Amino acid sequence: MSEFVEPPRTNSATHCTPEQYEALYRRSLEQPDAFWLEQAQRLDWFTPPTLGGEWSYDPVFIEWFGDGTLNLCHNAVDRHLADKGDSTALIFEPDDPSGETRSLTYRELHGEVVRMANALKALGVARGDRVTLYMPMIVEGVTAMLACARIGAVHSVVFGGFSPEALAGRIVDCESRFVITADGGMRGGRPVALKSNVDAALAHEGVAVDGVLVVRHTGAETAMQAPRDRWLHELASDADCLCEEMRAEDPLFILYTSGSTGKPKGVLHTTGGYGVWTAATFHYVFDYQPGEVFWCTADIGWVTGHSYVVYGPLLNGAAQVIFEGVPNYPDHGRFWDVVDKHSVAILYTAPTAIRALMREGDAHVTSRDRSSLRLLGTVGEPINPEAWRWYFEVVGEKRCPVVDTWWQTETGGAMITTLPGAHAMKPGSAGKPFFGIRPQLLDAEGEVLSGAAAGNLAITHSWPGQARTVYGDHDRFVQTYFSTYMGRYFTGDGCRRDEDGYYWITGRVDDVINVSGHRMGTAEIESALVLHDSVAEAAVVGCPHDIKGQGIYCYVTLYADREGSDALAEELRQHVRKEIGPIATPDHIQFTDGLPKTRSGKIMRRILRKIAENEFGALGDTSTLADPSLVERLVEGRRNR
Ligand code: WT7
Repeated sequence: MSEFVEPPRTNSATHCTPEQYEALYRRSLEQPDAFWLEQAQRLDWFTPPTLGGEWSYDPVFIEWFGDGTLNLCHNAVDRHLADKGDSTALIFEPDDPSGETRSLTYRELHGEVVRMANALKALGVARGDRVTLYMPMIVEGVTAMLACARIGAVHSVVFGGFSPEALAGRIVDCESRFVITADGGMRGGRPVALKSNVDAALAHEGVAVDGVLVVRHTGAETAMQAPRDRWLHELASDADCLCEEMRAEDPLFILYTSGSTGKPKGVLHTTGGYGVWTAATFHYVFDYQPGEVFWCTADIGWVTGHSYVVYGPLLNGAAQVIFEGVPNYPDHGRFWDVVDKHSVAILYTAPTAIRALMREGDAHVTSRDRSSLRLLGTVGEPINPEAWRWYFEVVGEKRCPVVDTWWQTETGGAMITTLPGAHAMKPGSAGKPFFGIRPQLLDAEGEVLSGAAAGNLAITHSWPGQARTVYGDHDRFVQTYFSTYMGRYFTGDGCRRDEDGYYWITGRVDDVINVSGHRMGTAEIESALVLHDSVAEAAVVGCPHDIKGQGIYCYVTLYADREGSDALAEELRQHVRKEIGPIATPDHIQFTDGLPKTRSGKIMRRILRKIAENEFGALGDTSTLADPSLVERLVEGRRNR
């Protein structure tokens, strides 16, 4: 069950050996401040910090490097100019494989960031302002984030696949007065209407911004509304633009993520700790060697794109691919074409992509060379051992170690992961804690479990990359993460620790589902469903899905005068898609005449989950239900699907 796969040699001189890992890990626990102040030297500081972590989980406040000042754009770009000015920073690979590849050196990247920063200033953006980004995966997505960091503005990136409604909610929540977008994007040969989605979002009542900066990318015809909308190429200038001196605890970005209740939370990360965390984890986990090309396939709309497309690689002076497209366009060999075209050494992607490609057969992979690959990484959801083995054996030909990195939007970067060279791998296990991380497993009563055990995963001590708060709602931050187990950060994940001290994440234990590595709140989908005028009540749970990991299963009750039909089910799917975005499209809609509730009216989700999973034998105690016969009808309805 938990067999080791010996790591292949990494042909790297700098990876961390098992002995070094043990020594560093021990020191990171015994002398955390000294350890992290040392790691902080990976960055350039205006004022180097003398303080390490100053934090408490009860009451909740978290600070790292509190007396240091720095600028992360300077660290990601300017400071490399002296010795890496002519080295590659970004290689843009467009959606269309016959389109134009665009390669930028660090010097060219610097020029683009300065132009973007000057355009933001001309638009009226000032230090501390929130700026919403709604961008395709293009160079300007990266330069827009860095330009915000440069002038001390706080970026809030909204994934380009979210709907105008979702975008509007995120603009309002963080009181953002500026949007950066593009005329459009391309994904899998299809245009994405970004600017017109922004227009639709801003047409909502109560949503108003002072300026919209538009990047010309596809050349699509674009309605510009004066004086609000401005083209980047008209506003940009090459004038000097100095990096603002930021305090370590000044906000760097807000990123919205779904929780088990309510609307998405604006998770807030600050400058110094996040910078140190992404720089250090990128260095150790990916063991990047000068001259290599790194490629993380995540979109900048997710935290993986923030930490391992923008900050981690650039803080380390790496060269990397920025990919606009999708794994299956124009065919299922695209990833490996990109790997060959740009000689990618390190590939970091998600289990859902691996499973989708695995299903298409090995020929798409083996027909490509892939000899440049040296290391493979996975993130976003538990990887099933079968997909792990395919990634390791077929994609990496057993030459490349696989790092399975467990982390979250709230953790800023990798937390539990094997390190290449330091650890033997176990297919399906994320491995060992990163430096400074103390995982703890607890049962439902709050008892701490020791040794080999399974329970809920908490972290007992703060680390530099930890989120500091929920924007505008610190109480919600405290409630969500620090109230389940007093004095600890609760991750929301279930987890098993085996006899070798390896961690196996089993998935969310709250009302959050993980669809293709994207976190979806069931409450959000329920809210969207009940907005439809036929829907009286809805309950949403996850169900097993071969490719996506989890699918979205919706139980829906209708108003008395409405009748369930295939057409209505399709209408509801489209409705959710419009309200939230394509990633939230329900996989199943089951109409029901009621939802299983306790006598006090609480929906019994445990039962709904089991039925959606087709586990009819394991429904447990249904005697407390207000209407026990309902369960039989629900099972019947599921069987008939
Ligand atoms: C949730 C966080 C980390 C960036 C992408 C997702 C799940 C993430 C793994 C992994 C098992 C994983 C967890 C976690 N998850 N990585 N390697 N193995 N599960 O960030 O949207 O904040 O979601 O993704 O359930 O809590 P996110």
